[in-house]
Amino acid sequence: MSSKVSRRQFLSYTLMGVGGFMVSATLMPMVRFAVDPVLQPKGEGEFIPTPQQADKLTETPVRVDFTIKDRKDAWYKSDVSNTAWVYKEGDTIIALSPVCKHLGCTVNWEGNEDHKNEFFCPCHNGRYEKNGKNIPGTPPLGPLDEFMVEVVDGYVHLGKTVPNTLV
Ligand code: FES
Repeated sequence: MSSKVSRRQFLSYTLMGVGGFMVSATLMPMVRFAVDPVLQPKGEGEFIPTPQQADKLTETPVRVDFTIKDRKDAWYKSDVSNTAWVYKEGDTIIALSPVCKHLGCTVNWEGNEDHKNEFFCPCHNGRYEKNGKNIPGTPPLGPLDEFMVEVVDGYVHLGKTVPNTLV
């Protein structure tokens, strides 16, 4: 029996190799998408406890810092610090994201002497009304996002951010 590879066999082995490579190159992104933790949907209904007591809130926004424990980033888990501006409007608790809608700097309540009763972004003098509405003529192009809010055992818990519903 001859161990020589015929031209026909060589061509079919080569085609099978190239075909197999092309199929795996097509399937790999799909497999990665199915198993990569960073691409998995996050828990929609997750609320994070904050140190802010609900009955201590007034109509003046206060800065509330909170920590998201064990946030997954690919295969790594770490604690992530976050901040909200929280106040009361009647019986409703409002929590606004401090992330400026211009280029993402952090806004501060009454952060500018000349503009009281407003949020102010120091990066490019962005201004927002108390409900998060961006003030026309200043750089931000949209209102501040809102956090979902829940009160659990008297403490404010914050969920995901959603587009502002107040303006
Ligand atoms: S980043 Fe806030 S005004 Fe530009």
